[in-house]
Amino acid sequence: MAKKNRPAESAAAASAEAASPAHTGAANGHDHNTTITSVSTEHRKFAPPESFAETARISSLKEYRRLHRLADEDPEKFWGKIAGELHWFKPWKKLLSWKAPFARWFVGAKTNMSYNCLDRHLDGWRRTKAAIIWEGEPGEVRTLTYAQLHHEVCKFSNVLRSLGVTKEDTVAIYMGMVPEAAIAMLACTRIGAAHNVIFGGFSAEALRERINDSRAKVLVTQDAAFRRGTEVALKDAADRALTGTPTIEHCIVYRRSGSQIAMQAGRDHWWHEMMAGISAKSKAEQLDSEHPLYVLYTSGSTGKPKGIFHTLGGNLVWSYYTTRMVFDMRDEDTYWCTADIGWVTGHAYVVYGPLLNGATSLMYEGAPNWPEADRFWDMVERHGVTIFYTAPTAIRAFMRWGEGFPRRHDLSSLRLLGTVGEPINPEAWMWYRSTIGGDRCPIVDTWWQTETGGIMIAPLPGATPTKPGSATLPLPGIDVDVVRKDGTSCAPNEGGYLVIKSPWPSMLRTIHGDDQRFKETYWSHYKGWYFTGDGARRDEDGYLWIMGRVDDVVNVAGHRLGTAEIESSLVAHKMVAEAAVVARPDEMKGNALVAFVSLAANATASPALKEELREHVAREIGAIAKPEEIRFSDALPKTRSGKIMRRLLREIASTGQVSGDVTTLEDFSSLEKLRAGEEE
Ligand code: WT7
Repeated sequence: MAKKNRPAESAAAASAEAASPAHTGAANGHDHNTTITSVSTEHRKFAPPESFAETARISSLKEYRRLHRLADEDPEKFWGKIAGELHWFKPWKKLLSWKAPFARWFVGAKTNMSYNCLDRHLDGWRRTKAAIIWEGEPGEVRTLTYAQLHHEVCKFSNVLRSLGVTKEDTVAIYMGMVPEAAIAMLACTRIGAAHNVIFGGFSAEALRERINDSRAKVLVTQDAAFRRGTEVALKDAADRALTGTPTIEHCIVYRRSGSQIAMQAGRDHWWHEMMAGISAKSKAEQLDSEHPLYVLYTSGSTGKPKGIFHTLGGNLVWSYYTTRMVFDMRDEDTYWCTADIGWVTGHAYVVYGPLLNGATSLMYEGAPNWPEADRFWDMVERHGVTIFYTAPTAIRAFMRWGEGFPRRHDLSSLRLLGTVGEPINPEAWMWYRSTIGGDRCPIVDTWWQTETGGIMIAPLPGATPTKPGSATLPLPGIDVDVVRKDGTSCAPNEGGYLVIKSPWPSMLRTIHGDDQRFKETYWSHYKGWYFTGDGARRDEDGYLWIMGRVDDVVNVAGHRLGTAEIESSLVAHKMVAEAAVVARPDEMKGNALVAFVSLAANATASPALKEELREHVAREIGAIAKPEEIRFSDALPKTRSGKIMRRLLREIASTGQVSGDVTTLEDFSSLEKLRAGEEE
């Protein structure tokens, strides 16, 4: 299996390196508490395929560096060129006003997101080009051309207006993956209402909290969504949420499944009834560049969700530019980002980025393993997908399901692959490259956050040689560094804290309603710099390797280790499907590592295997990273977006109980089993 293809010499180099202090923070003579020790040993490197580079927008590192320099030295020219490709009703007076931590970009300009995504393409041939190709889980396919999408968006914007929604308001959207979700988002931007999309997998309670915090006036939802062959009763959940949401005046319900739901007279309106007969003439509001675009809630590891607040002009420019550069987007592409629109990835890279580029964006309603585990590959083949963008957690699931599923299909239409959401372990990266990409497609590992609004660190596929597990280099215009606690830059390969040193257009403007928390969370660690919360290291080529959230860093025997690297080593073992590493207090060592491991389909749990895995880690990365304890578990507790909730595992490992907030947990049964100690 491809999983095993770590070259023998690299494994040998690995143990030699781990033993050598030159590769650790210790070598730099700094207090361990100021840095993070890196134990990663990945050395493979892949040049962009020549045929890809030949036609790519940016085809060499030299060109990349030139752009980077231009952005630093002449920002007016750099941003002016990019922004100039979009439509502005009124030009900006000033590129940037920066009173840390508050930024305003394209100051004084007037523009509109929906106009740029739609109207701008209607004059030419793209009028009849597919903007969105949608596939429902049961199998139906709908195509909306740019003209059709424009028509629907204009009408729905008038529906919102007819309910009294203005550019001062916020509209909550609680839907599954249907084109109407994108239509609702675009309609909001047309009239200048901020949208607050709440992931359809969230509970009534989570929905209510997010509606109330954003003070939304209207909720757009649907009767039910299809997922893994069953219906997710969205309207039922909405009804429960709406018992405690004083700001909501109206609820619009799109009929998707036709299932029986309650409609409350006066408050609830059917989408199709509101749309019937309403005018399709809708002027796009001329909105200030700093006008609200959206609020999107991130769970955060503890406490109350944060309403990440984004504004128009900066996101317009950055979604457009990053999609163009990182995906090298072309008119001929059929592009598929598998993210749900409930996440920021769905905002920037299912809806805005592709539409701003006049591209064709594929949208899929359901689960990747419905009716069978080859659904994605079946879709890639049938739709001729050329660019495919997904999450490492999905890739590891595909690996677990086996190569047989992708092998059933012709995947030769693919020309570029992407990942986002967490560090990708090198073995998954290699599997993705060979099994899905046929060793032919570059992989863009894209690092960013809900807070950054768009991709910040990623290869340019025609220019940047890639290394499995590294997001490589910051995009032109993005000024990142890896620093110690005291703010000094780390030496090559010394792990530290990832910061962004200058403002960028799509940065969050604040946390909705809480400037103080905004300042404390992101701007109190380093004066004038944005703190990402991630640990990272920069290698000798300047490549960035994300080591995970610093909250998850474990301290063993005086070494601070990023969990991602230890987990990566565990999942490189052929018997392991997924792993999460946490620390629990230990009388002797201060802390001991506990690894929660879910096994590959063909593996059997046994004490011998536990021992073997401990030895495997010791061999691969050194004795300091050897887990004290291995616990097997069928499933690990994850957020709905696929991130492992190490905080919960930490609690289980240390106290056997969980006390913190679990509203963002995907599958409660995984937690129940762990809590009961039911794992093998
Ligand atoms: C956190 C942000 C970005 C949209 C989806 C997640 C982790 C994200 C990568 C990557 C390593 C990554 C970071 C980041 N992360 N992408 N390519 N490599 N880590 O958005 O929920 O706001 O999470 O996800 O830890 O801080 P989010």
